[in-house]
Amino acid sequence: MTSRILVMSGDGVGPEICREAVRVLDALVSDHGLDVELDEALVGGAAYDAEGDPLPPTSLAAAREADAVLFGAIGGPQWDGLPRASRPESGLLRLRSELDLFANLRPAMLYPQLAHASALKPAMVSALDIMIVRELTGGIYFGKPAGNGVNEAGRREAWNTMRYDEDEIVRIGRRAFEIARARNGRLCSVDKANVLDVSQLWRDVMTELAAEYPDVELTHMYVDNAAMQLVRAPKQFDTVVTGNLFGDILSDAAAMLTGSIGMLPSAALNATGRGMYEPVHGSAPDIAGQGVANPLAAILSVAMMLRYSLNRGDLADRVEHAVGQALDRGLRTRDIMDDETQIASTQEMGGAIVDMLR
Ligand code: IPM
Ligand code: MG
Repeated sequence: MTSRILVMSGDGVGPEICREAVRVLDALVSDHGLDVELDEALVGGAAYDAEGDPLPPTSLAAAREADAVLFGAIGGPQWDGLPRASRPESGLLRLRSELDLFANLRPAMLYPQLAHASALKPAMVSALDIMIVRELTGGIYFGKPAGNGVNEAGRREAWNTMRYDEDEIVRIGRRAFEIARARNGRLCSVDKANVLDVSQLWRDVMTELAAEYPDVELTHMYVDNAAMQLVRAPKQFDTVVTGNLFGDILSDAAAMLTGSIGMLPSAALNATGRGMYEPVHGSAPDIAGQGVANPLAAILSVAMMLRYSLNRGDLADRVEHAVGQALDRGLRTRDIMDDETQIASTQEMGGAIVDMLR
């Protein structure tokens, strides 16, 4: 059966990296029997400019129809002054919420060819391979009440609520235990249970779930310590599960350990395996349109899509292998350059992957 893929390239470098990812999909269709049809929809600032809404109803409807969404990036300084609901970020958050994409998988792995690019000494990060499982549709990002106003003393105030119910914790917990089981059987749950009630519930539920996964070793860590341990001794982590806000922060820190946020893909999955696939890096407005952005995170996001939504792990392996080969050959976009390698444009890097897939 033909799978439907919706491409939402968004803002900044989004369109140029998605273009390369789509070339990779096209190559898989023509040379490897992948059966997909592609469609496109506006999102983010681009959608706001065209239709006054960062997630127009037609885009949301198209995303609901799709088996998988390839998402580029959203945001830019020209939209920062808009009311919150019109900002590009709101389009992304609504998409996550409306599609119920509660499980966000953010791998942080080091390509041996890029060890020099890490902020840490090579020995600290060699063979680094962490999977951060971030809860994506709850917690303080969506908790009610949220808002702002003026208090009795006439001073401005604002508030958000970090709230989880046990069902939300159970479903992300199960997903994380299963992922840990398929990896090295070690799961670290990150919270702030020494201070927050919501984190105590998180910890209690994770501990209860552990009884169902006797083959997985569950540990708990406070988020402040986890941030420190990530930059002190990152290889102690295998699979990490955490809430929305902590996962947002820790996944950026983990990405930097690999030296190359331009290399990292992510998946956001619902309960039935439909998903949205997105490079971890943002819209990088400072380099947009120059043809220097690294398309590999978007291309590796296609690999995750093949594995998690399209049931084509064989093709995912091929794409990942091609990325390794491109790095072996010394091809580098500007963000991962060193003295011995040759600089490739966005298009040249995408073209190299396509050539290797043919
Ligand atoms: C991310 C981003 C988003 C988030 C923003 C753009 C809303 O930082 O995907 O990590 O905070 O989740
Ligand atoms: Mg973030």
